[in-house]
Amino acid sequence: MEIIGIDIGATGIKAAIVDTEKGEFLTERKKLDTPIGGKPKDILKVIKRLVDHFEWKGKIGCGFPGIIKDGVVKSTANISKTWMNMPVSEYFSKETGCSFSVANDADLAGLAAVSFGKGKGVMGTLIFITIGTGLGSGIFLDGKLVPNTEMGHLYYKKSVFEHYASNSARKKKEMSWAVWAKELSAFLNHLDLLFSPNMILLGGGVSKKFDEWGKYLDTSVNVSAADLQNDAGIIGAAMLALKS
Ligand code: BGC
Repeated sequence: MEIIGIDIGATGIKAAIVDTEKGEFLTERKKLDTPIGGKPKDILKVIKRLVDHFEWKGKIGCGFPGIIKDGVVKSTANISKTWMNMPVSEYFSKETGCSFSVANDADLAGLAAVSFGKGKGVMGTLIFITIGTGLGSGIFLDGKLVPNTEMGHLYYKKSVFEHYASNSARKKKEMSWAVWAKELSAFLNHLDLLFSPNMILLGGGVSKKFDEWGKYLDTSVNVSAADLQNDAGIIGAAMLALKS
């Protein structure tokens, strides 16, 4: 089936029409800037531009950088606080006239990885981590998602792992790859302690540079860079809409 997937990120909002059987794009990816402040009505304007760009009337799947429970926003670490408790699926559906399904961005990128990427067919516990402005997580047991796990917000050094192991933290604290990889290793080892995962996949833009920093990881976990990379969030979003 052909469905639009949209991935709302802290810096960009990306979309493409996806072939949900093959997990491939049928169009070029269209990326627009996330409006400064990330307020609902400003993000809606961008969503409407994307819907118009693809001249779309059907189902749309959408990843959002926060907890989404039954279509309602339940956390706002990296987006305007005014989203809190908003029924985002309903809001986008009503305002665009398209049927929207919205879920957590990391959960959806992970869904693409277990359906079409390196996570396909992996039994036991698989953890998908997105490393970007935030540190997102998707946990799968025998390929089935346990939603909204938010592992990046586990406590670490009187703060949370996201403030040390995300890509934005690396840039902000001007960490070298080796120093940052130490923080990421602490995160991965903590996940190992909690879940003993069979596999951890690392996604997000920085995973493209895995060759540069992967060698500094200090962990015995079975960890590797995810494939599909920037496309995963969009493909997973389209798959969500397929199921709903
Ligand atoms: C949010 C998560 C999200 C991640 C990646 C975190 O700050 O709490 O819900 O998945 O960023 O966008």
